[in-house]
Amino acid sequence: MKVYLDNAATTPIDPLVFEAMMPVLKEGFGNPSSTHSYGRKVKSLIERARKNVARHLNCSPGEIFFTSGGTEADNMAIQSAVKDLGVKHIITSTIEHHAVGHTIDQLKKEGSVEVSYVHLDEKGHVDLQHLDQILSVNPKTLVTLMHANNEVGNLLSLERVSEICEKHGAIFHSDTVQTMAHYPFDMKVIDKVHFLACSAHKFHGPKGVGFLYVNHKIKINPLIHGGAQERNMRGGTENVYGIVGLSKAMDIALSNVVAHKEYVTDLKLYMMERLNSSIPGVEYNADCDNLSRSLYTILSVSLPPTEIASMLLFNMDILGVACSGGSACTSGANTGSHVLEGIDAPENRPSIRFSFSRFNTKEEIDYAVSSLAELYA
Ligand SMILES: Cc1ncc(COP(=O)(O)O)c(C=O)c1O
Repeated sequence: MKVYLDNAATTPIDPLVFEAMMPVLKEGFGNPSSTHSYGRKVKSLIERARKNVARHLNCSPGEIFFTSGGTEADNMAIQSAVKDLGVKHIITSTIEHHAVGHTIDQLKKEGSVEVSYVHLDEKGHVDLQHLDQILSVNPKTLVTLMHANNEVGNLLSLERVSEICEKHGAIFHSDTVQTMAHYPFDMKVIDKVHFLACSAHKFHGPKGVGFLYVNHKIKINPLIHGGAQERNMRGGTENVYGIVGLSKAMDIALSNVVAHKEYVTDLKLYMMERLNSSIPGVEYNADCDNLSRSLYTILSVSLPPTEIASMLLFNMDILGVACSGGSACTSGANTGSHVLEGIDAPENRPSIRFSFSRFNTKEEIDYAVSSLAELYA
């Protein structure tokens, strides 16, 4: 049996998304910047997708800028805040994705910013009092904190953080790559957020496409210079097929968001039950077993010490189960997880991240748990 439980790394493309992209791949080859009919035809597909995404987020189409994915969107927000908005200080956490963390490291190395790391509580959640405190003594600040952690699933309240940021006149960016299209977003409600990052391949869309939401109150310059695409905000011929796929994937995800959430939450609960009864001493990292404060698609399991710790993922793979030991983007690299280190996870307990989608079944969970139990027997 082959089981894919690494949906936080990437998701399989939805067949309906594939269907929506096919005619564009076949016939929509015009350059959207061309003024003839071939160009105009595909340009209209991009603008239709932009309007559709904006409708889902209850924002203006002018606030959506398509990018090559989450990494570029994060870079665009953070680098523009420093370049164009006079930011001299960044507040972030030690458990952000590298798209955020390494961008900040580089800015710090260049001497462009000072960086403060907000404290995390014992469950790995951001200490909002500490955030308030460091903001009060630091003007011209960008706060960049992820909505849900991609390794352990901890959720952040965008409402509360954006209110604290507004109180101190700070800019707020959130990496929403793991949550966009998994939860409804209403930008008229969370209207104090300035930037949000999205990536289509995390919700059954294609790879290499995403967007940055930029609140209309913020004016920034391009990160990538070139042609006049994206209303002069991002040079480069647009990924039309990807943009059409992203829009369709968002339609499917958000028109069924409640049912998908219920279905996937049930899988997560089921897996916890099965693990608890099959592997004595199993625990959960950070706040992963607290459904109200953790992403329903992620279960980060802390396992009892074993001699075969370094072989667990490899052996699960041999048995046909794809899961991950840390962040997708570093899986394959032989380095420990900065997130598990950031939440002080015990070093002697191996961790496995299982991440689910609406395409998984309880039979697959049964197989994954019995495979892991077999390795622990
Ligand atoms: C939280 C988070 N941010 C950013 C990214 C990067 O997104 P992309 O793969 O679209 O560049 C990822 C991908 O793993 C992620 O999980």
